[in-house]
Amino acid sequence: MNGDWPKHNMDFLNGRRPRRLRRTGWMRDLVRETLLTPADLIWPLFVIEGDNERSPITTMPGVQRLSIDLAVKAAREAAAAGIPALALFPNTPNDLRSTDGREAYNPNNLMCRTLSAIKNAVPEIGLIADVALDEYSSDGQDGLVRDGKILNDETIEVMVKSAIVQAKAGADIIAPSDMMDGRVGAIRQALDAEGYDETAIMSYSAKFASCYYGPFREAVGSGSRLLGDKKTYQLDFANAHESLREVAEDLDEGADMVMVKPGLPYLDIVQRVKDNFNVPVFAYQVSGEYAMIRFAADAGAFDRTAAMMESLCAFKRAGCDGVLTYFALDAARAMSK
Ligand code: PBG
Repeated sequence: MNGDWPKHNMDFLNGRRPRRLRRTGWMRDLVRETLLTPADLIWPLFVIEGDNERSPITTMPGVQRLSIDLAVKAAREAAAAGIPALALFPNTPNDLRSTDGREAYNPNNLMCRTLSAIKNAVPEIGLIADVALDEYSSDGQDGLVRDGKILNDETIEVMVKSAIVQAKAGADIIAPSDMMDGRVGAIRQALDAEGYDETAIMSYSAKFASCYYGPFREAVGSGSRLLGDKKTYQLDFANAHESLREVAEDLDEGADMVMVKPGLPYLDIVQRVKDNFNVPVFAYQVSGEYAMIRFAADAGAFDRTAAMMESLCAFKRAGCDGVLTYFALDAARAMSK
């Protein structure tokens, strides 16, 4: 039977052997298309009140909320590892959360004190300040709530004031993560009017209503307060064209950089944003994505470092100029080994 199989030759290849480019490590290095460096990484940090305090986040193994002194230490480590910027998120004490979110523009709030402490101690690292109300509001929503509705323009007034106190405290980049209409233009106008024309805006432009934010909501303490969902302002995850319109709108209003979020399940959006607009594009490998990789690696499904590096490289391959990732410090250190 064996001898009856038809004979074939490989003439159709005409001498082409694509595997030549994969034969050795040095050859693969030589032809690699995408290079990931520590300069591509932005490290999100969660901050809490206290001194020498750290608290674990059960759904994000390896990530802890840090008091300001420890956040300063972390900033030093990040700078030493070549990470260009941090993204800061406060876990506001419960008694300071209110329906009007006024703690968001208290110039002495946890966020502002963190910004100025890091700016003073580690001036070489960039500071990205999240602007949204969920970190300050007793409702867990990104906007003010009235009769079950999220108010757009009223929310923007609070966000603008929040952005100004953050810029004053040392934020280099203001990052509105709320998806209200018109917030980029309003923040740009206010920053310029207050003399912060050098403060940049990285807009969470293509932000989808996603279940992958679950662990983050635990980290900032908004999850248990949240009634319902965020679908009246965050994008429907089935919509790509609509996300491009959001990006166009934010750029028109003065965004310097745009973000796609979540990350890995949305690389098609990253690529389209980059191809269509040719501006700096970032993606957020969000808390749930981090959790998936960590829990799978911890269960022995794959190697944690390998999964981390492969996922981060994918962001760059898709067209990202940088990635917000909870793996930033680990990844930067792995690269310098
Ligand atoms: C809210 C905000 C969220 C994240 C960043 N800013 C959560 C949300 O929109 O509910 C998510 C980040 C993550 O999951 O890592 N302003």
